[in-house]
Amino acid sequence: MAEVRNKQVVLKDYVSGFPKESDMHIIEGTVILKLPEASSEVLLIKNLYLSCDPYMRILMTQGASSYIPGSASHSPLTGYGVGRVLESGHPDYKKGDLVWGITKWEEYSLVSSDQTLFKIEHTDVPLSYYTGILGMPGMTAYVGFFELCSPKKGEKVFVSAASGAVGQLVGQFAKLAGCYVVGSAGSKEKVDLLKNKLGFDEAFNYKEESDLNAALKRCFPEGIDIYFENVGGKTLDAVLLNMRLHGRISVCGMISQYNLTQPEGVTNLANMIFKRIRMQGFMVSDSYNLYPKFLEFLLPHIREGKVVYVEDIAEGLENGPAALVGLYSGLNFGKQVLLVSRE
Ligand SMILES: NC(=O)c1ccc[n+]([C@@H]2O[C@H](COP(=O)([O-])OP(=O)(O)OC[C@H]3O[C@@H](n4cnc5c(N)ncnc54)[C@H](OP(=O)(O)O)[C@@H]3O)[C@@H](O)[C@H]2O)c1
Repeated sequence: MAEVRNKQVVLKDYVSGFPKESDMHIIEGTVILKLPEASSEVLLIKNLYLSCDPYMRILMTQGASSYIPGSASHSPLTGYGVGRVLESGHPDYKKGDLVWGITKWEEYSLVSSDQTLFKIEHTDVPLSYYTGILGMPGMTAYVGFFELCSPKKGEKVFVSAASGAVGQLVGQFAKLAGCYVVGSAGSKEKVDLLKNKLGFDEAFNYKEESDLNAALKRCFPEGIDIYFENVGGKTLDAVLLNMRLHGRISVCGMISQYNLTQPEGVTNLANMIFKRIRMQGFMVSDSYNLYPKFLEFLLPHIREGKVVYVEDIAEGLENGPAALVGLYSGLNFGKQVLLVSRE
């Protein structure tokens, strides 16, 4: 029975305010490569890729109510990842299968039967895609845009955090649906990416706009039909002033608020009445039953090069804390992935 090193990224203590690399440390434990007997843990997996996701900050706060098992302090972080099954006590999985779903930030993880897990059936695309375009963020863009907003040809769509894991897909889905789409992002390089590679009709750097309302009026002289909300705060307030009659707002995330001890207020909500706006929050995990339909829709587009995906891949668990913390200052250029092992 082999005992091997199990490097882990562990949360030192619960975080308040902006997370720092020093809130986490790397420890080198060991693991016996065998499933424990009489346990709810039914799979032993080797983690290959881990996903850096904004919601992980919420799990770092003491007492946070969470939609996946939380990252308790002094424990390895919990998050999405891609792994290879080393041992299985579950009838649906066998040794050698590739899977994506909830795992831990470590080299080897035990997975219990109630954790979100999908078998990877299509390996003609990069495996890392199952942390992004073909994993949780891809499903988020699909559900939040198509299911919640019911886009129609010719409609005007705005996406914030548009170059990120979710936003870059929302923009491309909007173009597939025949919409006009504008994205906001935090640097010139990201704005260029949106316009020149990802097919957005227009894009702007929100950090360089002194008046977000004016920026939106410039890009949407007739107003916005659909807003895909990733950031919250001042952006949401400015969007509310620019929505059209019967507009839809898909509330996916509010990254500008996650590290604030006092969240910002929104002052323009009355526009929801006058413009008959429907604003709806959602959690992607409620819609995982749509995963087969989503794959059927997206895989052909990826294979034909009609939808592309930009990834930012950091290498090695020791670089995980920097990669994760970088999300909150926009250091990632596309989907932030952490490569743990190539095989
Ligand atoms: N509801 C769900 O089920 C669900 C699922 C997945 C994700 N989400 C949410 O979707 C949003 C996007 O997630 P993602 O994975 O695609 O992340 P991401 O866009 O790949 O990375 C986060 C980006 O947010 C931007 N950002 C950071 N701080 C900001 C601030 N104060 N104001 C404005 N922008 C800021 C940065 O881009 P810039 O350089 O452009 O500022 C950063 O690159 C997040 O809010 C996340 O929590 C929700």
